[in-house]
Amino acid sequence: MNNITQQVWPAAYRAIAEETARLGFTMPSEIQTCALLRTLAAAKPRGSFLELGTGSGLATAWILDGMDTHSTLISFDHDERLLNIARNNLGNDSRLTLELADGGDWVASNATKSFDYIFADTWHGKYLLLDEVLAMLRPGGLYIVDDMLPQENWPEGHHEKAIALIERLEARPDLWVVKQHWASGIIIGVKRCA
Ligand SMILES: C[S@@+](CC[C@H](N)C(=O)[O-])C[C@H]1O[C@@H](n2cnc3c(N)ncnc32)[C@H](O)[C@@H]1O
Repeated sequence: MNNITQQVWPAAYRAIAEETARLGFTMPSEIQTCALLRTLAAAKPRGSFLELGTGSGLATAWILDGMDTHSTLISFDHDERLLNIARNNLGNDSRLTLELADGGDWVASNATKSFDYIFADTWHGKYLLLDEVLAMLRPGGLYIVDDMLPQENWPEGHHEKAIALIERLEARPDLWVVKQHWASGIIIGVKRCA
């Protein structure tokens, strides 16, 4: 076995990746992570999906690829240049709602929503407003974060924040979590049923 993703990649992925590279964006999700996101998305038919931190839509394309036709995905980012790449390449998928929003504002305005699958790929839902975002996760729902292993672009003090996040997640009585020392470092949590 190797780590190469042999299965077909989402149709829009390469165009998004090219536009993203032209913009000089340096924080895209890794392909292994994307393949995991797609695989897990397929486990939630008729699901409600949330991605915090669209970027240019690289991971979004993979999540959409795994979702069935009855599922819906909300994804937001505060960077309009990045979001426009996602809009141009994925915007005609009726399952997808792309929003230009600050994470704090979005979470505050959508606290009553609930989701079967949350990919938290920005500050909010991960290092900020963790409890609020996990409150949106339905029983049996999946919570996924990447970049949990030390990264070269981490600023001073971020390592300690990552450790604190891991400890908070592991201490939660409502989640089962698994830490995967793989790709950029993945944590998958599942909201426990009562
Ligand atoms: C790790 S990147 C997301 C990568 C993306 N999921 C992908 O697959 O390429 C984090 C994103 O969070 C966004 N972001 C940072 N601070 C934010 C905030 N306060 N509100 C909303 N988005 C924010 C950035 O613009 C960036 O696109």
